[in-house]
Amino acid sequence: MPIVNSSGQLTLEQALAMVNELMLAKMGRHLSDPETTLLEGTWNNDDYQTIAEGTSYTANYLKGFVAPRLWNIIAAIVGTGKKVTKTNLRSFLEYLYQKEYSNCSDGGVSEDYSAIERLKINGEPPDVSIFFGRSQELSHIKDLTNDYKLLSLIGIAGVGKTALAAKFLNQISSSCNAQFERLIWKSVAHAPTVQELVNDLIQVVQDTESPSTLLEYTQVNITSLLQALQSRRCLIVLDGIDTFQTTNFEQRLDYRLFFRRLIEEQHQSFFIVTSRALPLDFKTLSRAKRPLQYIKIKGLDSESAMKLLLANGLTGNKKCRELIEMYYGHPAELQSVVERINYYFAGSTEAFFHNKTTFISPEMQSVLDEIFSQELNEAEHRIMLCLASCTTDNQTLVSFNKLLNNFPPILNKEISISELIESLECLENLSLIDTFRDPQSKELYLCLQPVIKKYIFIKFLGITTTSEDLQTISLAS
Ligand SMILES: Nc1ncnc2c1ncn2[C@@H]1O[C@H](COP(=O)(O)OP(=O)(O)O)[C@@H](O)[C@H]1O
Ligand SMILES: [Mg+2]
Repeated sequence: MPIVNSSGQLTLEQALAMVNELMLAKMGRHLSDPETTLLEGTWNNDDYQTIAEGTSYTANYLKGFVAPRLWNIIAAIVGTGKKVTKTNLRSFLEYLYQKEYSNCSDGGVSEDYSAIERLKINGEPPDVSIFFGRSQELSHIKDLTNDYKLLSLIGIAGVGKTALAAKFLNQISSSCNAQFERLIWKSVAHAPTVQELVNDLIQVVQDTESPSTLLEYTQVNITSLLQALQSRRCLIVLDGIDTFQTTNFEQRLDYRLFFRRLIEEQHQSFFIVTSRALPLDFKTLSRAKRPLQYIKIKGLDSESAMKLLLANGLTGNKKCRELIEMYYGHPAELQSVVERINYYFAGSTEAFFHNKTTFISPEMQSVLDEIFSQELNEAEHRIMLCLASCTTDNQTLVSFNKLLNNFPPILNKEISISELIESLECLENLSLIDTFRDPQSKELYLCLQPVIKKYIFIKFLGITTTSEDLQTISLAS
C-alpha cells in the first residue's frame, strides 16, 4: 500500500507509523488498540460516538479515558508546550512530521517513514529507546562533526554522557544522508591498552577478522589506523575513558600520545569520547585551536526530567518539579529516587516529601568513594569539606569570598590563592562543584549539589541527620 497520497500530503498510515515509532522511542511502548482506533477516527474527523461504533469500546471510555492521556503524551513528544485536542490533532501531527523528517525529504513528506535504511552500528551501545530532551546537545554535536576530529563529553557519573553518545549514534544510523561509512561503539571502561584498542579499531574499520598483519609496535599500528580512518569516514565512540587516566603511568602516556595523534594527524573520521573529567591535554589542545571540542553535560532540563519522572510512573506535578530541582535534573539519581518512591511510598511524591530526604544511589556512592579516596589531593578534599560546612540546609551556594575567609590552614600552612584556584578548577572539572556569577554583584559563587553535600556530611563530617533530613533511610542503600 502506498504510504503517500497523490497530493504529497501526510497520510493516515504515515501518521500512525510516525506516532507508533515515536511512542516506542519516547515512552517505550507501541500504540494500544484503543489509541489506534481513536487516532484513526480523529484523523477522519469523526465524533466519539462514530469512532466507538463497531468497536468493543464505548464512546465514554474513548473520550474520558483514552483521549486525555493520548493527547498529553503527543503534546509531551512534540514539546512545544501547546495543548493537543481532538480538533487540532491533525495539524499537530503534520507539524511533527515536518519537524522530525523534513531533513530527509527536502521538506516534503514523500519519504516512507518506516523504510529509512539504517546504517549498522558496530558494537553494543546501550538501549536509548527511552530518551528525553538533549535536542540542543544533539544538534550541536552534529555541527561539530563537520569541522572537528574529536569531541569529549564530560560530566559527573550518571548524568547521561553514555546515553547522549548512544542517542547520537542512533540518530546518525537512521538519518538519510550518509555522512559516515562506519559507526563504531567501543566501551573502554575495562581500560584496554592502546595496543589492544588500536588493533580492535583497525579490524572494525577495515572489516577484517584477523589482526595477523599488525605489528607489535603501537605507533606503527596507530599510523595504519589513521590511514584507515582517512580512507573511510567513521564515527567512533569510545565510552568511559576514565580508567586509563588513573591506571599506570606508562598507559597514561600511551593514551596521551594516541589522542594527540588522532587530533593532530590527517584523517576524516570523528571521535566522541566520554569521561567524568576532561582528559589531560585536551584543554590545552582545545585552547591551541586544535580540532577538538569538549561539552560539559549537566542534568536534564526541567521539561525532559519531568517526562522521565512521568514515564517512570510518578505523579504530582509540583512535587515532581521540586524533586527535579533537588537532583539538578540528574537522570540516574532521579531514576534511583523514583525506584525508592515507588517501592516505599507507593509512587506518591507527596508522601515522600512528607518525609523528605536526599538519597544517594549506590552507584553515585561508589563513584564518590573512588574520587574522594584516589583522585583528590589534600587541598581539594579540604575545599569540599569547607564548602559543605559553609552551606546551610536550604542554600547550596557559597561565595568565593566566604570560602577564602573560612578556609582553614592545611598542616598549619596557609594555602596560597593560586593553589586554591587551581584546586577549584580541578573540582569543577570533576563536576564536584559548579560555579555561578551573580549577574548584579558579579560575585562568584560555588555550588555543591545536594547529593554530594549529603555524601560529605555522612562520610566525613559524621552528620547523618540534618533538619531537612529527618529520615535516614537513605543510609540503608
Ligand atoms: N536523556 C535521557 N533520557 C532518559 N534517560 C536518560 C537520559 N540520559 C541518561 N538517562 C539514563 O540515566 C542513566 C545514566 O545515564 P548514563 O548515560 O549511563 O550516564 P553517564 O554515562 O554520564 O554515567 C541511564 O539509566 C540512562 O538510561
Ligand atoms: Mg557512561
